[in-house]
Amino acid sequence: MDKSFPLSGWGSVAVHAGHKQDPNYAHLVPIYASSTFVFDEAEQGMRRFSGQEEGYIYSRWGNPTFTEAENKIAALETFGIKKNGLALEAKGILHASGMATITTLLLSTLKPGDKILTHYSLYGGTEEIMSKVLPSLGITAIIADLRNINNAVDAIKKDKAIKMLYIETPANPTIQCVDIEQLCELAKQNGLLTACDNTFATPYLQQPFQFGVDFIVHSTTKFLNGHGTAIGGILLGTDLDFMKTGYLKWQKH
Ligand SMILES: Cc1ncc(COP(=O)(O)O)c(C=O)c1O
Repeated sequence: MDKSFPLSGWGSVAVHAGHKQDPNYAHLVPIYASSTFVFDEAEQGMRRFSGQEEGYIYSRWGNPTFTEAENKIAALETFGIKKNGLALEAKGILHASGMATITTLLLSTLKPGDKILTHYSLYGGTEEIMSKVLPSLGITAIIADLRNINNAVDAIKKDKAIKMLYIETPANPTIQCVDIEQLCELAKQNGLLTACDNTFATPYLQQPFQFGVDFIVHSTTKFLNGHGTAIGGILLGTDLDFMKTGYLKWQKH
């Protein structure tokens, strides 16, 4: 998005955010069906690989089509939110599915011995990761009824190994809701990372970043796609260093 021409309305952001004028004047970003990108000269390739120059290298790391979707969804999830008087910034990373997104989030933030506190009503695939995949990696999920804040207070008080609060609200398929603001405040007081699956609400109805959530995940397969034509997911975060490098400064334990 051209920052000299700010988009003030939600509808304008939904349509225009993330869009860069196509060199051939296509009105929508074309689908760049290219695994790899070519360089003008070998030295340019070296500059790109070493991070001295911005530019596309390999589509798993970035592709102009993905970039537009990532920037658009980040703009919607941060629309109208201010932090310390400045517009909140987030970075999005598209994934092949919602489950790929959730797996990336958990594997990049938790390590053996860590615990994760979550609500008992989650999307089946996420519940399976929590109860079957994480334990095999030495990570334990504490599954509680987080509609009652006292359950979260008790769990956190009892267990210093809890590193993350993970919620999905409204949950699929029960539509159960938990209080993002209250839980996030508690999590922050106790130094926990916080993540919210915002698939069902979409940023149109709910913006978890407003309540200080660190990470948002979506199965873009659902409402964000809207047409039922493609499986996808996105991970969004406001710690821009982490989103670029995968390294969490706070995680020194
Ligand atoms: C809330 C929620 N999160 C995650 C997922 C998983 O997403 P995907 O099917 O794109 O892997 C789903 C899928 O139904 C979902 O409803």
